[in-house]
Amino acid sequence: MKILYSAEALFEAVARLGTQINRDYQHQTTPLMLVVVLKGSFIFAADLMRQLTIPCEVEFIRASSYRQGTTAGELCLDWGMTKDFGGRDVLVLEDVVDSGQTLHAILTDLKTQTRTVRLCALLDKPEKHRVPVTIDYCGFQLLGDPFVVGYGLDYAEQHRGLPYIGVLGGA
Ligand code: IMP
Ligand code: MG
Repeated sequence: MKILYSAEALFEAVARLGTQINRDYQHQTTPLMLVVVLKGSFIFAADLMRQLTIPCEVEFIRASSYRQGTTAGELCLDWGMTKDFGGRDVLVLEDVVDSGQTLHAILTDLKTQTRTVRLCALLDKPEKHRVPVTIDYCGFQLLGDPFVVGYGLDYAEQHRGLPYIGVLGGA
């Protein structure tokens, strides 16, 4: 496994995102609603939330695309009981933006009811976007098309527990 972002690099990136979010939302009147896109974002979200000093709440939605290996299939969004975000300031937390289709679907659902909605992604693969997405807070930009695992990210449900992010099969 080739390490791309060490545990230290991830900590620094998450701390930087936390500083930006604390600053941007310091004058809000209602708690920020963090919407965590499961499963891949759970470790990122847990670390980021511990960097936030502003009042915030957390909800989870489940996004799955019936992947074959590393290629995305049909997208399925499960909002559970949590879909009412009427009048809230929402920050969507996503692990990786690849084609952008997951986020596009989530934002389309959310925009009708929220007061504001922004997006925070740990990783962005800008060359892979197939639909327009605006990422308000971004940890790292990944050029090319490496498939990465660790820190919540999986390949066939494996490797989520690695403390770093690496490229599978790399030297
Ligand atoms: P999108 O809808 O094509 O943007 O796909 C985004 C989702 O695909 C992410 O939330 C991840 O769950 C998954 N994904 C995309 N790239 C990777 C990767 O390199 N490693 C692990 N999962 C990935
Ligand atoms: Mg994800």
